[in-house]
Amino acid sequence: MLELAPWRSDLSRALHRNRSLVYARYAQLATVQANHRPANRTVVFRGFLEDSNTLKFVTDRRSNKVEQIAENPWGALCWYFPKTREQFRISGELAVITALEKDAALLRLRETAWLALSEGARTQFAWPDPGQPKNRSEVASQEPTDFSISLETFCLLLLAPQTVDHLELREQPHCRCSYTLKADDTWQQQALNP
Ligand SMILES: Cc1cc2nc3c(=O)[nH]c(=O)nc-3n(C[C@H](O)[C@H](O)[C@H](O)COP(=O)(O)O)c2cc1C
Repeated sequence: MLELAPWRSDLSRALHRNRSLVYARYAQLATVQANHRPANRTVVFRGFLEDSNTLKFVTDRRSNKVEQIAENPWGALCWYFPKTREQFRISGELAVITALEKDAALLRLRETAWLALSEGARTQFAWPDPGQPKNRSEVASQEPTDFSISLETFCLLLLAPQTVDHLELREQPHCRCSYTLKADDTWQQQALNP
């Protein structure tokens, strides 16, 4: 296992101090489209993968981002914490864990992530194909589903960070620090001008 990154405690502290704000768990995740243009969307942070630096999200297999990640796994997350006025920009490799995952441990983590969802959130994975033209009869034909077992459309999405830029606005002048994962799996930390 990689050492816990030096930025990891800063991020955990920000999450704790902003815990009263439900939207502090929302971040913007950018991926790269086949035409090399960026695509960006809001996602909900679902915690860290066990005791690691890897961030967990969930998504729908049919969504555009899954195809984009299959072509180009690089992603960038931009996350602002209003209460403590700090921003984390985290870039790294994304991995989509589907129902067809071969690794049994990852498959179990996918199932755990499914069980952690509210019933309302699980229902969304039975909705018609996201991003496709709306067909009213398709919406009406939704049958009740057994939500105790994960739906095939459900994916666990993992972001393994390689660079982190942390900016804090609380003090004058502002504080900024960058962290880079080196080839030997240690983190290089550098204070920057804000
Ligand atoms: C507050 C909020 C939270 C969201 N959380 C998620 C999420 O956790 N996972 C997800 O795939 N989409 C989430 N979405 C929807 C995405 O922003 C996006 O519309 C959807 O994933 C389709 O994106 P894509 O076509 O780029 O793949 C959320 C949207 C909002 C506004």
